[in-house]
Amino acid sequence: MWRESRECNKQKNREVLLTFEKTPEFSQIIFEIEREVFEDRAWNLALLEEELRNDFTMVGLLSKGREGIGYIIARLIQGEAEILRFAIRPMFQGRGLGKILLQDFIREASLKGVTRIYLEVSEKNKRAYNFYKKMGFHEVGVRRDYYSQGENAFLMEYNLEVEAALADASNVGANHDLPI
Ligand SMILES: CC(C)(COP(=O)(O)OP(=O)(O)OC[C@H]1O[C@@H](n2cnc3c(N)ncnc32)[C@H](O)[C@@H]1OP(=O)(O)O)[C@@H](O)C(=O)NCCC(=O)NCCS
Repeated sequence: MWRESRECNKQKNREVLLTFEKTPEFSQIIFEIEREVFEDRAWNLALLEEELRNDFTMVGLLSKGREGIGYIIARLIQGEAEILRFAIRPMFQGRGLGKILLQDFIREASLKGVTRIYLEVSEKNKRAYNFYKKMGFHEVGVRRDYYSQGENAFLMEYNLEVEAALADASNVGANHDLPI
């Protein structure tokens, strides 16, 4: 269903493959990363399998050979996407792979007509919060007691139209010799 598949070109990330074409093996690969990253908050295999069977669900998987490196799971409905799960395995974090995965997801989602992307991130997950801010997401609300033990979540939004306009504006003059 999702036809994108490409090599990531960065030197450090050579041989890493990103695909948006769902296959039945994805569930098991993602399940193993889930357990490593989220431990007792990991989704179980049955839940993952059910989610991946959903026609509205888009999945991106980063892998190296048969080894899973990271993934993104989102639901696309009527021009909006909600990111449900997103992770890079700890030993591969900090190499720009999360950025590649998220940027390619945004591009793919845009081709499917998505104009807004939402996600919830725990108020305690500063690393992910900072990462999303850096990637152009903005905090648009708080979901109280979203997680267990009264942990709140920030609701974050990425507006593709606004970001595209900002990118256009920052390119104005980039290819011209300005008089000053
Ligand atoms: C959040 C996560 C996906 C980021 O992936 P990553 O591969 O480590 O991030 P990258 O190396 O691609 O970093 C991309 C950019 O974000 C920045 N960034 C990453 N972590 C950051 C932090 N803690 N604070 C500030 N900026 C940060 C990087 O500096 C980089 O910016 P640059 O391109 O200008 O150098 C990863 O840390 C992860 O899987 N965390 C555990 C699971 C999780 O929390 N998922 C989100 C649940 S909502």
